[in-house]
Amino acid sequence: MGVSGRVAVVTGAASGQGRATSLRLAGEGAVVAALDVDAAGLASVMDEISDMGSRCRGLQVDVSDAEAVAAAFDEIEADLGRAYVLAAAAAIYPPGALSHLRDPEETARVFDVNLMGVVHCASAATRQMIEEGRGGRIVLWSSIGAGAAIAGHAAYCAGKAAIEGLGRALAAELGPFGITVNTIAPGAIDTPMISDAPPDEAYYEILPAGRPGTPGEVAHLVSYLCSDTSGFMTGAVLALDGGLSGINGAVRPDV
Ligand SMILES: NC(=O)c1ccc[n+]([C@@H]2O[C@H](COP(=O)([O-])OP(=O)(O)OC[C@H]3O[C@@H](n4cnc5c(N)ncnc54)[C@H](O)[C@@H]3O)[C@@H](O)[C@H]2O)c1
Repeated sequence: MGVSGRVAVVTGAASGQGRATSLRLAGEGAVVAALDVDAAGLASVMDEISDMGSRCRGLQVDVSDAEAVAAAFDEIEADLGRAYVLAAAAAIYPPGALSHLRDPEETARVFDVNLMGVVHCASAATRQMIEEGRGGRIVLWSSIGAGAAIAGHAAYCAGKAAIEGLGRALAAELGPFGITVNTIAPGAIDTPMISDAPPDEAYYEILPAGRPGTPGEVAHLVSYLCSDTSGFMTGAVLALDGGLSGINGAVRPDV
């Protein structure tokens, strides 16, 4: 059965990896509930899913707003049914060097969206999954920034490290309910998030894959994590980074 006929809630669905995940799961028969702040992007992904003949609903929601998230999940339950999948991709990666640490409001905004936004969605989704009693699949988005420094993005890195702890703890709590929780840690993925400041050539020279990943490659992994056959995988943090974490600072030899 997989995700077919089941409700998949995807945050950050208007762009990049969330968008690719929404399209991928819809293609597998999921009923997609797409959350994002970007109304135009949501409308575009909804059109694409509708054209595929799949049922979907876009909700313009700021995931850092706990009440708005709770109301959105109530609407999803009433309109589409209870969530079976939560794919929580929404995040921000604001430019601004170390000013994040000097500007408490900007720092708080990064944590509010990237960490508390995930907490709000995971709380609402797990309530529905437990009430439904048929298990569930939760996928969280970390980053290579959780395990390696990205200078100028201290709040982002700290928030993503917290996501990995959150994912492991939720996996332990939710295992008895048949709910798996896994966290993916992408490296550079070709999306609008990094288009303003893409990694330089030196990065790709040492990266084993030698190129950025694509949103579709991420969606493929998410699809596996949402499938029936992934039931034994939970509490994992999965690097999808073109080999960056594997080389651990080593350089690629000239061959
Ligand atoms: N692109 C990369 O290189 C990369 C690398 C590592 C991790 N990530 C992570 O991957 C995930 C997906 O990012 P992406 O690359 O697709 O970026 P993206 O910018 O293309 O998509 C992010 C989406 O989140 C939405 N969003 C932002 N704030 C929101 C809020 N408050 N409420 C609801 N929606 C909100 C945006 O409108 C956008 O549609 C993020 O968690 C990001 O941190 C990205």
